[in-house]
Amino acid sequence: MKILMAASEAVPFAKTGGLADAVSALSLALAKQGHEIKIILPRYYSINRDMLCQLEGELGVRTGGGEEWCAVYAADLPGSSKKNPVMVYFIDHEVFFGRDGIYGIPSEPDFLDNPRRFTFFCRAVFQFCRKISWYPDVLHAHDWPAALAPVFLKYGERVSGFEKTVSILTIHNLGYQGIYSKDNFYYTNLGWDVFYAAGFDDWNMMNLLKAGLNTADKLNTVSPHYAWETQTPLHGFRLDGVLRYRSADYAGILNGIDTGIWNPKTDPYIPQNYSIKDMTGKIKAKEALQREFNLPSDPDVPVIGMVTRLTEQKGVGEVFGPAYGSAWSICREMNLQLVILGSGEPWCEHEIENLASRLSNFKAHIGYSERESHLIEAGSDFFLMPSRYEPCGLNQMYSLAYGTLPIVRNTGGLADTVQNFDQDTGAGTGFVFDDLTPAAIYNTVGWAVWAYYNRRTQIEAMRITGMKQNFSWEKSAKKYIEMYETSLAVM
Ligand code: ADP
Ligand code: GLC
Repeated sequence: MKILMAASEAVPFAKTGGLADAVSALSLALAKQGHEIKIILPRYYSINRDMLCQLEGELGVRTGGGEEWCAVYAADLPGSSKKNPVMVYFIDHEVFFGRDGIYGIPSEPDFLDNPRRFTFFCRAVFQFCRKISWYPDVLHAHDWPAALAPVFLKYGERVSGFEKTVSILTIHNLGYQGIYSKDNFYYTNLGWDVFYAAGFDDWNMMNLLKAGLNTADKLNTVSPHYAWETQTPLHGFRLDGVLRYRSADYAGILNGIDTGIWNPKTDPYIPQNYSIKDMTGKIKAKEALQREFNLPSDPDVPVIGMVTRLTEQKGVGEVFGPAYGSAWSICREMNLQLVILGSGEPWCEHEIENLASRLSNFKAHIGYSERESHLIEAGSDFFLMPSRYEPCGLNQMYSLAYGTLPIVRNTGGLADTVQNFDQDTGAGTGFVFDDLTPAAIYNTVGWAVWAYYNRRTQIEAMRITGMKQNFSWEKSAKKYIEMYETSLAVM
């Protein structure tokens, strides 16, 4: 099969979160199974042109009243096999993408011209294929920035090469939909009949994801539990009705983890590699983590790690919120060490620094560090993820692979991947709670710490059960292929 991934992020080129990991890893897993995969991305300013190779000629893309011209660059996706490499193509347009930031910068978190930038990008997808005379069987779009691609396919582009192409839209996060003033509809070059037919209308605004969800041939999200949750008003972000309406075409497919990168047996970022057979490396990693974060070196105290975007989705309010967050009492009342690596909302960064200055067993690094995120996964005993909602979540799967027990809220992909500890039988792979309240977080961390001190054998056995879980992309890729095939069968 020929598959084109249209996305706004893909590691290692552009990343703000797990979307980037998922797009690249899924592409590699599909290529491994013999499919021909191309990824198309905007060429953001941060992606160095010197590392890419420019395609000859330029691309004219219809948008608004006229045409915009852009260049196209290409590169192999790192990790690809020589025999069947995943090719990444970059749409290079100076005005739209030649600036810092993917979706925005701190002083303008959502660029005002984002609807125009991503409308242009989605239209360029078709011109690009025509330029290289390569027509995909499957056009697979990810999240709102690429959601217009299925819409364009259905309304106007299913011609000259695209007659047999089907479209898939994957929701990585329903909380972001691309809702803008409908004045921007002008840039789509679609008629107002399509505005209503495709369901762009959202209380007199234009909703890009909603239009994509109404038009793509098949839809999915990144875990079975989240697929169910998004069809309820509580987690549907006002699109639960659309998703219930499309439920026959809507599936949940769990993400995998890239075991080439997240594997304690080969991880270059940790002091000594380890496996189920010899866990010495995990003890060394804990030592290194304590050193890195200026904590007293103590193998016997439980270390709880966090690596996260600091945003409401991740439940950080209930952990760090001034006056009510649980971190203060957790650190004051329990014999543990808590480390966090993260960046995001300024109030939260500020509060974390404030807490770290007052608590000797709480250390934080505000920022982004690939290396430290690996060290935290390997060196911690527990990993805290109290998400408000979590479409899939990658860190709890990394934790399991590293023998670190996740403490998670019972939602989305967390519910699908972590089994609660049963202290009678010793079964389980982590600690799970239902309510998103500071008290529930406090109590569940307390329970984990209690088990660490009092049920050590069970804790060690749980680590091993976690490390034996199979979260390979191979499994997920097969499910995507089934979805592509059912969609192509009715074409
Ligand atoms: P989301 O995409 O919602 O942020 P995921 O769990 O799917 O959540 O993916 C988050 C990814 O981003 C993980 O690979 C995680 O390690 C990484 N990450 C998040 N914050 C940081 C940080 N400050 N430093 C390094 N990696 C981070
Ligand atoms: C989003 C979600 C996260 C998921 C990731 C990759 O960023 O918030 O839960 O793991 O996409 O699909």
